[in-house]
Amino acid sequence: MSTSRRDFLATSAAAVAAAALPTDAQASRLEGAPALIGLGESGLRARPCVVASANGLRGVEVAYNQISAGADTLDAIIAGVNIQELDPEDTSVGLGGLPNRDGVVQLDASCMHGPTKRAGAVGCLEDIATPSLVAKAVMDYTDHVMLVGQDARRFAIEMGFQTQNLLTEKTRQEWLRWRARLNPNDSFLDYDGNVDIKFTTGTINMNAVNAAGDLSSVTTTSGMAWKVPGRLGDSPIVGAGQYCDNTVGAAGSTGRGEANIKTCASYQIVEFMRGGLAPRDAALRTLERVVAMTERRLLDDRGRPKFDLQFYVVHKDGRYAGASLYEGAGFAVCDERGPRVEHCAFLYRRTERPR
Ligand code: GLY
Repeated sequence: MSTSRRDFLATSAAAVAAAALPTDAQASRLEGAPALIGLGESGLRARPCVVASANGLRGVEVAYNQISAGADTLDAIIAGVNIQELDPEDTSVGLGGLPNRDGVVQLDASCMHGPTKRAGAVGCLEDIATPSLVAKAVMDYTDHVMLVGQDARRFAIEMGFQTQNLLTEKTRQEWLRWRARLNPNDSFLDYDGNVDIKFTTGTINMNAVNAAGDLSSVTTTSGMAWKVPGRLGDSPIVGAGQYCDNTVGAAGSTGRGEANIKTCASYQIVEFMRGGLAPRDAALRTLERVVAMTERRLLDDRGRPKFDLQFYVVHKDGRYAGASLYEGAGFAVCDERGPRVEHCAFLYRRTERPR
């Protein structure tokens, strides 16, 4: 890539990220334009495209460049999410992910490879910074789809992965603050006054299609901060945290995994696309299902969820979309126009940020 193109991409990404929130009508136009670009040797050709959660802005460019150079779509997007997994400043995933109730970082990930119809997953993995690669190792080297807990860790070590302490000083301090404020009657002193206690379900999902229309998807996360030890979110569950069907498209999610698991949302999005819906409409229709399946305690007095959930979708032909329950979310995308953050379509205007 030339210097001038890099400059253009950086400028355009920053400009889009800083843009004002869209109206509903504008949001509906943000979905990728129809993407069929002609007939190749194998028939229908797609427009190559990588979509991800907004924290994947660096990753979508890496993945897109690798796909453009001929890399397999799953290898490319795993290289993309590895950037966040190994970044100690991203507290939603991998090294530096926020820990569970006991101060232990437990990671979940899953992936699907469209052309070979294979999947791999790990849950509650400790001490390995790149669960996406361990999920792929489960896919590549076992007859199984999912390994969890201490045996997933043992498998990773057998496969040559290095162990390390994933709790950083920053996340250790956040956990200490959370614990100190948990119960006013316990023995831990509340040593820090007005701290912003984070409850996060941050995650990275990435999906890609190449020019041949081959697809892959991957999701990786440290899950909900302060979770009950052993909790699995949606990310390691094929069909919930991500899903890929090479004849249709791929989808994945970030946000409250418990809501996603109950609706098998990524699978549902792909199935809606199989039925003819565009990526944006498939995602919004699935969000409506999520709302319909939400228990009363998690709805406000207007019947709106007290949490947020986002979907990232790519169609086999290269169309794409991001969608969120609430306005204001963005998603990362890279295609021939370069990496950028676009606004998610949404169901609800935000009057108050849900926790
Ligand atoms: N969506 C990530 C999680 O709930 O763990």
